[in-house]
Amino acid sequence: MNRHILQSGFRKIYPLYFGIVLATIALILIGICGKAGAAMLPPSGAGSDWFIDMNRFALSAHAALKCDDCHGSMIVNGLQHSDEKRPDFLRQSATRTYDYARCRRCHELSFKRYLEGGHAKALREEKDPSKEKKQVTGGKIMAPTCGECHASHYERSGLSRVAVGQRMLGACASCHPANAASYRNNIHGRVGIDLGNPKAAFCTDCHGAHTVDSLKKPQTALLACKRCHPKAETEFTGIVIHASLESVSAADAPKRAEVLWIHRIRWFALAVLALSLAFFVAHSFLWLLREIHEKLRKH
Ligand code: HEC
Ligand code: HEC
Ligand code: HEC
Ligand code: HEC
Ligand code: HEC
Ligand code: HEC
Repeated sequence: MNRHILQSGFRKIYPLYFGIVLATIALILIGICGKAGAAMLPPSGAGSDWFIDMNRFALSAHAALKCDDCHGSMIVNGLQHSDEKRPDFLRQSATRTYDYARCRRCHELSFKRYLEGGHAKALREEKDPSKEKKQVTGGKIMAPTCGECHASHYERSGLSRVAVGQRMLGACASCHPANAASYRNNIHGRVGIDLGNPKAAFCTDCHGAHTVDSLKKPQTALLACKRCHPKAETEFTGIVIHASLESVSAADAPKRAEVLWIHRIRWFALAVLALSLAFFVAHSFLWLLREIHEKLRKH
């Protein structure tokens, strides 16, 4: 008798039970697709071309400027534009040859910070013929000038914090793919990029857009964390933000060990989750078989 009540009760809630399983699977799939979509945002500095799209230029932060304000004399590497005798000169991309000192007139602070930062240092070393080119994660990459991160003709102003953060992720990822990937797996990446929460930290909130602080020293990292976690103490900076082996240098043994542990715990948690799900599905299936069996036996 008791068993019978239980069974008919279960029959009533069975559609609900099945619905929950389907909804869980659907949510996981939506999550995966959403993530893939967000990762495909174009980098902001990409695409420099001889033909200026004047419609896009008119929408840009520089729309009110005259071409002369940035191009002035039109002399690049000692060559006057446009030099009819040098058609090859016309076909070169100007991103690496442009004299960015011209930006300084209007953007003194950004320029000064850039000169003090790690990117300008890397650029000086790159241009120094006596020094060997530096190796960075993912092979040899060049150091960025203003033009690698900003499309000067099309850069928009007044974008939301989240939009700026998403575009920047694409720009940084082109040279720091491992750090970009580990950031996306971090709480800040999930809250900022996936959920679009403006309170989260984007790359430049911790590193600075132009100073690009390394943050390897706990004292420097603490200053960055304290902007949003005012109660943070030095131990707080022990939390690994870029928790993948690719984004930790081989010399940093303690951090590598920590990352390995994070991975082991993550795999353990995943295994527990997978086992529970497998049990859940198998259990439902067996129950269904039993229902059918009971039904057939009654007839
Ligand atoms: C805010 C500064 C700025 C203004 C204003 C500006 N430019 Fe430029 N321009 C640049 C920079 C920087 C480059 C170097 C390439 C790059 O990063 O896009 C460039 C490159 C170019 C190039 C070479 C494109 C290539 O293949 O790299 C052309 C052509 C050009 N600009 C034309 C114009 C014209 C025409 C105007 C006016 C409608 C204009 N620019 C206004 C900054 C500016
Ligand atoms: C003649 C002055 C002038 C020059 C030269 C100039 N800019 Fe600008 N820039 C401006 C003004 C004005 C704005 C709009 C600021 C605003 O809307 O708040 C701006 C906006 C920007 C922004 C967007 C800021 C935002 O609001 O997000 C970037 C990025 C930028 N400039 C980069 C550059 C770069 C790179 C160069 C050199 C190739 C350059 N600028 C040269 C005047 C200039
Ligand atoms: C490594 C990429 C990178 C390089 C190189 C770079 N910028 Fe930026 N810049 C950014 C990002 C990302 C932002 C917006 C995010 C922010 O403000 O934190 C930004 C913001 C700006 C702004 C808006 C004001 C501000 O500080 O928020 C200006 C102006 C600017 N950059 C000019 C320049 C100039 C001039 C150069 C070259 C000396 C340069 N940038 C080099 C990434 C870069
Ligand atoms: C065009 C390639 C390029 C782009 C784009 C780029 N970087 Fe870099 N970055 C470099 C190079 C090269 C170095 C120097 C590496 C070295 O010395 O080990 C570097 C170094 C760094 C460092 C370490 C600085 C130091 O003092 O040691 C940080 C942090 C950094 N980048 C963050 C960023 C962020 C954040 C962005 C996006 C806003 C970005 N980078 C975009 C090429 C790039
Ligand atoms: C919440 C703060 C935070 C955010 C957001 C963040 N980072 Fe970092 N990043 C750190 C800390 C802390 C370190 C230094 C410790 C380490 O190596 O793990 C670091 C290290 C780095 C380094 C190595 C620096 C060196 O000296 O070699 C690079 C490159 C870097 N981050 C790039 C990025 C990029 C690109 C993004 C965005 C996609 C990003 N970071 C977002 C905190 C952050
Ligand atoms: C621009 C703001 C900002 C900066 C800078 C920042 N964080 Fe966060 N952080 C957040 C936000 C927002 C959350 C999500 C909080 C929540 O939902 O509870 C978060 C969450 C965290 C969490 C998860 C636990 C918690 O407290 O909620 C840790 C751990 C963390 N941050 C560490 C760091 C470290 C380490 C740094 C410096 C290297 C740092 N953060 C820099 C905004 C920031």
